[in-house]
Amino acid sequence: MLNIAVMVSGGGTNLQALLDAEKAGGLGGGRIVCVIASKENVGALRRAEAFSVPGEVCRRTAFSCEEEYENALFAILDKYNIDLIVLAGFLSILSKRVTERYANRIINIHPALIPSFCGKGYYGLKVHEAALAAGVKVTGATVHFVNEIPDGGAIIAQKAVYIEPDDTPETLQRRVMEQAEWILLPQVVRQFCQGQIRIVDNKTYITEEKQDV
Ligand code: GAR
Repeated sequence: MLNIAVMVSGGGTNLQALLDAEKAGGLGGGRIVCVIASKENVGALRRAEAFSVPGEVCRRTAFSCEEEYENALFAILDKYNIDLIVLAGFLSILSKRVTERYANRIINIHPALIPSFCGKGYYGLKVHEAALAAGVKVTGATVHFVNEIPDGGAIIAQKAVYIEPDDTPETLQRRVMEQAEWILLPQVVRQFCQGQIRIVDNKTYITEEKQDV
């Protein structure tokens, strides 16, 4: 059994997809044991509560320096004995000290096809605004491992979504969530928990699903 922490900053629809997947068929032996929000009163904390998952708040600005923030975050992660951290709409950047302690054990969902429209400053609606401004015809979502480079870790899975001529950032965001994010994230978490993701030279390979004996 792997203990999963989901880190969030907003409404939490990706968290909801994970909670629903766990309830419906399990997460390949993983279970969500806590939700960590970057600020108080976010919708994601209410979703956690509705599923009786403990919610924690770890707000960077509540600490005088990065190290104190990291220590507080580590204390929460240790309290729940966390094996896997899932960033599900977590909109701040984790430092090298955090990504190294959890190397290849932090995954993130990004609402574009990395390496397009990613990196510092590309989050939430801004990503979809940039895709529309560039006039691309296809976008999508990417799940990747997290290292110290924003959106720079090994790609695990991607799903493409077509852009429609009359899309706004809001309609595009919704379609990318529905057609890609909410499907991809639970799928990758399940594969991680079943030990199906191999990483070699910063590239990932998915191995066959293990059969129950
Ligand atoms: C999602 O679209 C997620 O991919 C994005 O924020 C949204 C959160 O929605 N994450 C990023 O942009 C990270 N760079 P949610 O709170 O409803 O899951």
